[in-house]
Amino acid sequence: MKKLPGILLIFTIVLSSTTAAYAADGDAEKGKVLFTVCMACHGANGEGNAVLNAPATGGQDEWYVIRQLNNFRAGVRGAHADDIFGAQMRPMALTLVDEQAVIDVAAYVATLPVPELATTIEGNADAGKKAFVVCVACHGANGEGNVSLNAPRLSGQYDWYIKRQLENFKTGVRGTDPKDIYGAQMRPMAMILATDEQVLDVTAYIATLE
Ligand code: HEC
Ligand code: HEC
Repeated sequence: MKKLPGILLIFTIVLSSTTAAYAADGDAEKGKVLFTVCMACHGANGEGNAVLNAPATGGQDEWYVIRQLNNFRAGVRGAHADDIFGAQMRPMALTLVDEQAVIDVAAYVATLPVPELATTIEGNADAGKKAFVVCVACHGANGEGNVSLNAPRLSGQYDWYIKRQLENFKTGVRGTDPKDIYGAQMRPMAMILATDEQVLDVTAYIATLE
């Protein structure tokens, strides 16, 4: 270590501390056992289930899954009186008894494949592409997400779920809890999509991203 130039050393420390903060020590094997509960709604491979309103979890970034599970457990998400679907998820997150269980299940979820998605929403993807310019700043040009900006991956997710979350942010069903730091960053962005049509258009565009 002593021979490393100072700048490289600092970089190494920053990098390893970032990794520690997000990936912790998730045990995917233990997570697989915990995921048995989740399969009932999210499917055996995390492919989601439209009938049960459960989004795809397969391939979603580990750091984001950890944050959402902790948000559900703490009631930062899923506790709003009008959050019908969040209320279904919250008790499931509470089956994860501690932070280690959260980290383990997230490690397993991250190993699952991104599912093939059928489109369900009719919108003008060309108009949506123009609206998406704002979103690119945080979510990336291909909706791949950006951990340093805390913005999750949007590609590989069902259009009906994306639409619902945009509506939830707009109405304040999500992103208004005082402890929801990251939801509070997303909420004004959803509000830029003033009309239902704009929500449909941007959702239709996101559905074209790989
Ligand atoms: C009873 C059905 C059900 C079960 C079982 C269930 N979930 Fe969910 N889950 C949902 C629903 C419905 C949502 C969508 C909530 C919303 O619309 O805001 C959701 C949302 C999520 C999200 C948020 C996804 C995102 O993109 O923000 C994650 C992560 C998640 N579930 C993981 C899990 C894990 C891990 C388990 C097992 C411990 C689990 N779920 C068990 C129904 C379920
Ligand atoms: C300033 C950065 C920023 C911009 C710009 C932004 N977002 Fe987000 N977005 C976030 C963050 C941060 C989250 C995570 C919120 C959380 O942790 O609950 C998020 C979450 C989301 C989610 C929820 C995903 C899920 O799996 O539940 C959707 C959908 C979304 N954004 C769509 C958009 C769209 C569409 C736009 C453009 C109109 C946009 N975002 C612009 C930061 C941003």
